[in-house]
Amino acid sequence: MRLYDNPASPFVRKVRILLQETGQEADVEMIPAIGNPLDSAKMPTAQNPLGKIPTLERDDGPALHDSRVICRYLDDRGGSKLYPLAPRLWEVLTLEATADGIMDAAVLMRYEVGVRPAEKQFGGWLDAQWGKIARALDAIEARWMGHLAGPIDMGQIAVACALGYLDFRHAARDWRADHPELAAWYARFAERDSMQATKPG
Ligand code: BEZ
Repeated sequence: MRLYDNPASPFVRKVRILLQETGQEADVEMIPAIGNPLDSAKMPTAQNPLGKIPTLERDDGPALHDSRVICRYLDDRGGSKLYPLAPRLWEVLTLEATADGIMDAAVLMRYEVGVRPAEKQFGGWLDAQWGKIARALDAIEARWMGHLAGPIDMGQIAVACALGYLDFRHAARDWRADHPELAAWYARFAERDSMQATKPG
């Protein structure tokens, strides 16, 4: 299998951590796909009409996207370790979706500053994206700390990838200041070998 990859992408990082945690790393070749919405020359547009990463090319079936579909597929292939059975499954999927929403907003903020010409940037829009992120972090700290303390699952991995991306691209916003319990959880989770091996950069 081939995974279209950018080490800076938190969505790709979810897949790379899952591969390590489920012992499938050697089964997937990483294909560099460095680009952005204005520069799709190296993006997998033939495999995924959206030209987005991660996209997973399989030898025995059509390519898969997005990160949630790829993670479900690879977890199933690896023996279903990171998505539990219902009803806990609904919690894991909701937590994963919340973390993915944080990443969506954080990546849009990154593009606004890193891709859009300076004279067209809109501070109010950046603050609105950060507002979504702050609400989601508040909700995780208020409602999900018990879940985060449980056995590792894909919801936890997605939250860790979202927080890692905030550190990587939006450190000045200091998400830890208002979320001390989440910060303490992340400090422990970030020690995992899979997290250390996939640090963005
Ligand atoms: C980034 O450079 O921040 C980035 C790259 C690919 C996907 C998402 C974010």
